[in-house]
Amino acid sequence: MTFTYYGHSCFLVEVEGKKLLFDPFITGNELAKDIDVTSIEADYILVSHGHQDHVLDLVAIAANTKAKVICAWEIYVWLGKQGIENVHPMNIGGQWKFDFGTVKCVTAQHSSGLPDGSYGGNPMGFIISSKEKNFYYSGDTALTLDMQLIPQFAVIDFAVLPIGDNFTMGPTDAVRAAHMINCHTVVGVHYDTFGFIKIDHKDTNDLFTRNGLSLLLPQIGETISI
Ligand code: NI
Ligand code: MN
Repeated sequence: MTFTYYGHSCFLVEVEGKKLLFDPFITGNELAKDIDVTSIEADYILVSHGHQDHVLDLVAIAANTKAKVICAWEIYVWLGKQGIENVHPMNIGGQWKFDFGTVKCVTAQHSSGLPDGSYGGNPMGFIISSKEKNFYYSGDTALTLDMQLIPQFAVIDFAVLPIGDNFTMGPTDAVRAAHMINCHTVVGVHYDTFGFIKIDHKDTNDLFTRNGLSLLLPQIGETISI
């Protein structure tokens, strides 16, 4: 599998030959100014919740790529009003089999207002199960005991977790989350983008290493094998 990082919580994973883009927020991210949004290809776009720093480029990329958007019911309704109709609505607890594998929506402890102030439904995390590997993207969330359920749903090969603190889990809780979901490989997201979430990379790496975990922090624009 390959994982491409576009900054903040935006990344693309290739699964079974399909390109899955998550939480598109690029043009508002000064750190991602070298990314050409119009060059991004996607077959699916998964949206964890409605906040601006997860949906800023959603409508433009969905229109450009014709990708199918997977998101909460309320975000599906909001997208429909903007002419985006290739959308598969879901909600927490539900799963659906797509042509790349299965998506299961799980709890995220956060909030989810859309940029125009409308209600975005509940925030979600996703478990992606495929013939290649399984992974968990928590979305923006606090550490929550619901994460203890995740090993019952799938064996997680890698997890994409926020580590920026202030609005979400910070590094210490992300380590606890990795233990709860029984996963040793973590890709850190939702850090450094703006002042409230800047982290010390060395301290954070050391923390994960001390706890027997591997923390991956790809450069923006970098593609890694995972
Ligand atoms: Ni958020
Ligand atoms: Mn966020």
